[in-house]
Amino acid sequence: MHSKDQICHEDYQKTADWLLAHTQHRPKVAIICGSGLGMLAEALKSQNSFQYSDIPGFPQSTVQGHAGRLVFGELKGKICVCMQGRFHMYEGHSLCKVTFPVRVFKLLGVETLIVTNAAGSLADSFCNGDIMIIRDHINIPGLAGLNPLNGPNDDNFGPRFPPMSGVYDKDLRRLAKDIAKSLGYSQFVQEGVYCMVGGPNFETIAEARLLHKLGADAVGMSTAPEVLVASHCGMKVFGLSLITNKVVKAYEDTEQVNHEGVLGVSKMRSEYLQTLVTELVSQLDIN
Ligand code: 6GU
Repeated sequence: MHSKDQICHEDYQKTADWLLAHTQHRPKVAIICGSGLGMLAEALKSQNSFQYSDIPGFPQSTVQGHAGRLVFGELKGKICVCMQGRFHMYEGHSLCKVTFPVRVFKLLGVETLIVTNAAGSLADSFCNGDIMIIRDHINIPGLAGLNPLNGPNDDNFGPRFPPMSGVYDKDLRRLAKDIAKSLGYSQFVQEGVYCMVGGPNFETIAEARLLHKLGADAVGMSTAPEVLVASHCGMKVFGLSLITNKVVKAYEDTEQVNHEGVLGVSKMRSEYLQTLVTELVSQLDIN
């Protein structure tokens, strides 16, 4: 990472101050919506929304199927801020840009981060359309040294060497499983390990087999950096992956994954995911 890519505390604070001056909402929960999962933001009551391009200091989104708006509002009585469209490493953003919103959320007073994404399944027991509660993650770019926490540590946010065991809050996972059961979703709600790869290409068969052997149940191109930065600054984290396709793991398999197929499945089950997140938010012990 070059020093010109470094973002200083003042940059986060400037963006946070601008947002605090432009909305009366004081969110305790932030939700990052993945590919095709942005409908959740539409459900917020008493909305204030901002195009990313209108927010000073905010990065710009470039992927199709991502609207690029920050939406403040009320979800079942809880004040939330929702990212409709996230930033990906493969768009060419540095990881401090990808995670910039998370630190801004911290400065707004957010205590819980909920992340959603579209992912391919490696676990043989998963079906397309399943919703996976993220138990843990494998951050492949992170292991290779591509880390948003690289560079001088900002002690205002968290420690130099943050622990990462238990990042995905156990109580929130328990609560989500109980809610899934009461909604009658148990047969398609799973729990597992999410693996982040850099993308933008999907995996080769050998790579897919490797990740599966390493203990990954699902693979995608996002989420780990935001979760890492949220955990570093002391936020509670909860994550869901919508399984949009099976990752090809056999040479005799003739199917191929494509971005349109991924968006198609996320449309089909996105309502269930939205309901699950809404119920979870409503039962959070806040406000
Ligand atoms: Cl198969 N791979 C990756 N890396 N990301 C995905 C995916 C697969 N399906 C949806 N997102």
